[in-house]
Amino acid sequence: MRTFLLVNGPNLNLLGQREPEIYGSATLADIVAGLKETALSRGVTLLDIQSNHEGVLVDFVQQHGAGASGAIINAGAFTHTSIALRDAILARSLRFVEVHLSNIHAREAFRHHSWLSDIACGVIVGLGADGYRHALDWLIQHTAEETRS
Ligand code: DQA
Repeated sequence: MRTFLLVNGPNLNLLGQREPEIYGSATLADIVAGLKETALSRGVTLLDIQSNHEGVLVDFVQQHGAGASGAIINAGAFTHTSIALRDAILARSLRFVEVHLSNIHAREAFRHHSWLSDIACGVIVGLGADGYRHALDWLIQHTAEETRS
């Protein structure tokens, strides 16, 4: 069974309470439960992590990255700072879709640069929690296509 990773970075544990006008009202638990349900119905496994600690995310990618068919990554603020997370993803040749709930390009200048975008298969910003769903659909479809060919 194909396994996909769902990686959420700092402060995403506060979704639902945190600046709802920017990030929406869904909690991370709601989002993860919905994605796991979709994964189950599509015959794939979703292994998820949320951490406020950069090294924990690096360890997770090191541990699970090589065995995964792909990942959905919202690294939160680490998007704009973490070369360590980038290096771990590269070290494991992990294919991923970068997701941001908000449109980072319509916000403060320091959010416009991502250390992940240029190594991502694709980037989804500004679609709220739907971004995760689209990313999962794309990954399932894309890796299935590759398996078939
Ligand atoms: C975010 C955008 C980041 O700039 C911010 O630091 C976050 C959330 C988003 O999903 O829109 O924590 O990744």
